[in-house]
Amino acid sequence: MKNLVPSHIAIIMDGNGRWAKNQGFKTRIRGHEVGVDALRNAAKYASKIGVKFLTVYAFSQENWRRPKTEVDALMSILVSSLNNEVQTLQENGIRLNAIGDKESLPKKCKIELDEAILATASNNKMTLTLALSYSSRQEITSATKKIAKKIINGQISIDEINENMFSNELSTAKMPDPELLIRTSGEKRISNFLLWQISYTELVFINVLWPDFSDEHFEEAILEFNNRQRRLGMTSEQIVKQY
Ligand code: FPP
Repeated sequence: MKNLVPSHIAIIMDGNGRWAKNQGFKTRIRGHEVGVDALRNAAKYASKIGVKFLTVYAFSQENWRRPKTEVDALMSILVSSLNNEVQTLQENGIRLNAIGDKESLPKKCKIELDEAILATASNNKMTLTLALSYSSRQEITSATKKIAKKIINGQISIDEINENMFSNELSTAKMPDPELLIRTSGEKRISNFLLWQISYTELVFINVLWPDFSDEHFEEAILEFNNRQRRLGMTSEQIVKQY
């Protein structure tokens, strides 16, 4: 049987720091640099096999609490990657997108990000979304505020609020929910990533550090996804009938 390729895959790229330490590097930064190579590879692989949306957790709002040297290094890796990778994105038909609190990013990052988003806007093979300064709770809080304002302004009534309307106020409004979420490094946590969107998502935890994540690991995660029966609240008997 042919494997089903999820149309939206989310990834928590974890383990850069441990990878650098294991390799004997003095700082964690080298892990992030090699992490960019792993991300480039994963994005190319995903677009090749027909994934339509790939959403990666590149920097959480909680990550601002890391030592300044690491935060600065991550921001500068972000700037240089955005600069260097546009060509790869173009060659692979990948449109760049970002979610999170863009305003909190250093000015240079924001400018590079906007430029890369604009340059790749007409690519239509796959959308690569970088979650940057992202917090899912913040996103949900902000959606709630937007809906409350609409009620106060008389645009909608309380009874009109439904899940669909709520989803449309999130930064992922134009995307389907992910069918598969992969977290590397062996940690089994969601860490404030896409909490609303992953209600029915299959979670796959892979015991490899992000810089070592390869096409084989990606394939393994998709196989695992295919081996699970997605019941979406129904019974197994109903699922058998459906197919
Ligand atoms: C988690 O590893 C990784 C991050 C906080 C950053 C992810 C960023 C990249 C892969 C770099 C590429 C992305 C962009 C857009 C520049 P960790 O540092 O928490 O590792 P640890 O758990 O081993 O300490």
